[in-house]
Amino acid sequence: MVSDQKLFHYSLRALYLIGPPTYISLRFLQAPYGKHHRPGWGPTMSPPLAWFLMESPTLWLTLLLFPFGLHSSNPKSLILISPFLLHYFHRTCIYPLRLQRNSVRRGTVSGFPISVAVMGFGFNLLNAYLQARWVSQYKDYDSDRWFWWRFVGGLVLFCGGMAVNIWSDRVLVGLKKEGGGYKVPRGGWFELVSCPNYFGEIVEWLGWAVMTWSWVGLGFFLYTCANLVPRARANHRWYLEKFGEDYPKGRKAVVPFLY
Ligand SMILES: NC(=O)c1ccc[n+]([C@@H]2O[C@H](COP(=O)([O-])OP(=O)(O)OC[C@H]3O[C@@H](n4cnc5c(N)ncnc54)[C@H](OP(=O)(O)O)[C@@H]3O)[C@@H](O)[C@H]2O)c1
Repeated sequence: MVSDQKLFHYSLRALYLIGPPTYISLRFLQAPYGKHHRPGWGPTMSPPLAWFLMESPTLWLTLLLFPFGLHSSNPKSLILISPFLLHYFHRTCIYPLRLQRNSVRRGTVSGFPISVAVMGFGFNLLNAYLQARWVSQYKDYDSDRWFWWRFVGGLVLFCGGMAVNIWSDRVLVGLKKEGGGYKVPRGGWFELVSCPNYFGEIVEWLGWAVMTWSWVGLGFFLYTCANLVPRARANHRWYLEKFGEDYPKGRKAVVPFLY
């Protein structure tokens, strides 16, 4: 039988190993949902249900594993896991409800491939296991004299990123609700980048890496970049092709002023 320590180390290695192939493959081939939806990826399901199911391990697996950790009743570990759970409560429960309200009104939603949802589910199992076990079991709180400094600094980044992420998703879902197909999003962070929702998400997990000060936190941040930076690039190109001269020239893809 594999011990939990070994499982943890193998899982951590897997998190780092899947990043580079994910980045390289997404440079050439976009995950076939949303703007990049195309046939040939098997059966589909409703997007709100797909988001709910594939993101759900981050809640149920984290809550299932956490009590078994050595530090499960340490206030520091409970405080540390809270932003992670908050983000995923929003992503798993609130975001799909918002999508659902929108799709019920307009009936305009294209399906989400089950194959993509299964991959997302698999990744979230791996990631929830790593983050939950690190925070509840493997982090050494006693010798971390900088815990509160890192926590507060990381939390500021995390909350800022989450605010940008939620605001941008709301604007996009609002545009979708208006009907009539995709539109050029305008205002706020959209004047700087085509995908502020991805930028916010990346900043959130940078904050998480600082808060946890760990290989698991850094690995998740790097994986998020590997996943979202090529998709942002593809979305940016898609906007330029679709809207041509009507698309604002100064916008970057995902990092304001840089990329
Ligand atoms: N941590 C990670 O690795 C990771 C990975 C993936 C996603 N996420 C997060 O999950 C959330 C959703 O991701 P996503 O890839 O689905 O984002 P997205 O492609 O920007 O779509 C978000 C929603 O807005 C709609 N939409 C997008 N652009 C629009 C436009 N120009 N006009 C009208 N409607 C528009 C989409 O409709 P359609 O579906 O019809 O396009 C969808 O309902 C984001 O917050 C993202 O950061 C995180």
